[in-house]
Amino acid sequence: MKILVTGGTGFIGSHTCVELLGSGYEVVIVDNLLNSKASVLDRVAAVSGKRPVLVKADVRTRETLRGIFTEHKVDAVIHFAGLKSVGESVQKPLQYYDNNIGSTLALCQVMAEFDVFKLVFSSSATVYGVPASVPVSEDFPLKATNPYGRSKLINEEILRDLFVSDERWHIAMLRYFNPVGAHESGMIGEDPSGVPNNLMPYLSQVAAGKLSVLSVYGNDWPTPDGTGVRDYVHVSDLANGHKKALEKLGQAAGVFTYNLGTERGYSVLEMIAAFERATGQPVPYRIVGRREGDIAICYAKASLAKAELGWVAARGLDEMCSDLWRWQQYSDKSVQ
Ligand code: NAD
Ligand code: UFG
Repeated sequence: MKILVTGGTGFIGSHTCVELLGSGYEVVIVDNLLNSKASVLDRVAAVSGKRPVLVKADVRTRETLRGIFTEHKVDAVIHFAGLKSVGESVQKPLQYYDNNIGSTLALCQVMAEFDVFKLVFSSSATVYGVPASVPVSEDFPLKATNPYGRSKLINEEILRDLFVSDERWHIAMLRYFNPVGAHESGMIGEDPSGVPNNLMPYLSQVAAGKLSVLSVYGNDWPTPDGTGVRDYVHVSDLANGHKKALEKLGQAAGVFTYNLGTERGYSVLEMIAAFERATGQPVPYRIVGRREGDIAICYAKASLAKAELGWVAARGLDEMCSDLWRWQQYSDKSVQ
């Protein structure tokens, strides 16, 4: 089976390529390298023993997609490509809608032209907005609170409309909670350009001495210790979820939506303590005011993914932290 992976040199995409290659799939990547580097493929090849084909291109370029589908007999597509910074999306909404929606439109049009109807789409827990309660299940009301989140919601709606129009489509929309960690080899991980926005990459750069102190955004949230609670899920577990989703799509047409999370929430202070415990590295922090747009608590109910995909998040906090730290040390010395 040959899988086209859009955004395959990025954080979640590169781990998914490792998972797919290790399971005997062939992989073709299309990525414009806006937020990733081609050099990750040397490391994907080193850990999996196989090298995916990379086409450096924008997914919105239909002619390039047609060239890929003409050259490769693609069986299914996993669509990771997109912009993902919430704050930036507020500043640059048109860029976010153009990229995140335009890429899905171009991709689905060209897939249909080539009779490829199996698609796994990267959605996000952000589509739940401010959830009324936890754990959050797939049937909760959907509401985006920023252009990034709205681009995910609109994509989900487009994909549902697509299936209504043509029942040959097999579509899985995976709502990730908070992806963290790195490949167990320490050779593949998240490589954010500039100062990270997300907790775990920031925290690990503080531990490495590249940043001086972690700002904890508020200790007055209605949570047990007052800091924000999230469902952190190991990126290799997410990668495995994509493989399971592909297997599901092999069996049934339809539009399927799954939460991918651990069903367990941890606070910012618990994450700091877990990281210090797993790595032996101190993480200096200070409490500052709340970050605009944050929510108090969010964690998944993931029983649907367990029942229908046979997927559960196997890796715990210790592995998330120690794998991330291994990658931090490796990338500081070796990755350009
Ligand atoms: P990432 O930025 O590491 O990877 C995305 C990749 O897509 C990058 O390599 C980038 O160069 C590429 N890309 C972007 N626009 C493109 C375009 N128009 N054409 C071709 N390539 C393009 O991000 P990630 O963390 O791996 O996220 C992957 C997907 O998962 C995204 O759709 C993201 O919105 C979604 N997601 C991520 C998170 C998270 O916290 N990381 C949470 C929920 C959902
Ligand atoms: N936090 C800090 N300090 C930091 C960074 C974050 O205290 O420097 C806190 C936040 O306030 C929050 C928690 O750590 O309580 C997690 O924040 P992240 O920025 O790591 O993650 P978010 O939950 O805000 O959002 C992430 C992605 C979104 C995605 C969402 C899905 O950034 O794109 O998970 O649940 F939609």
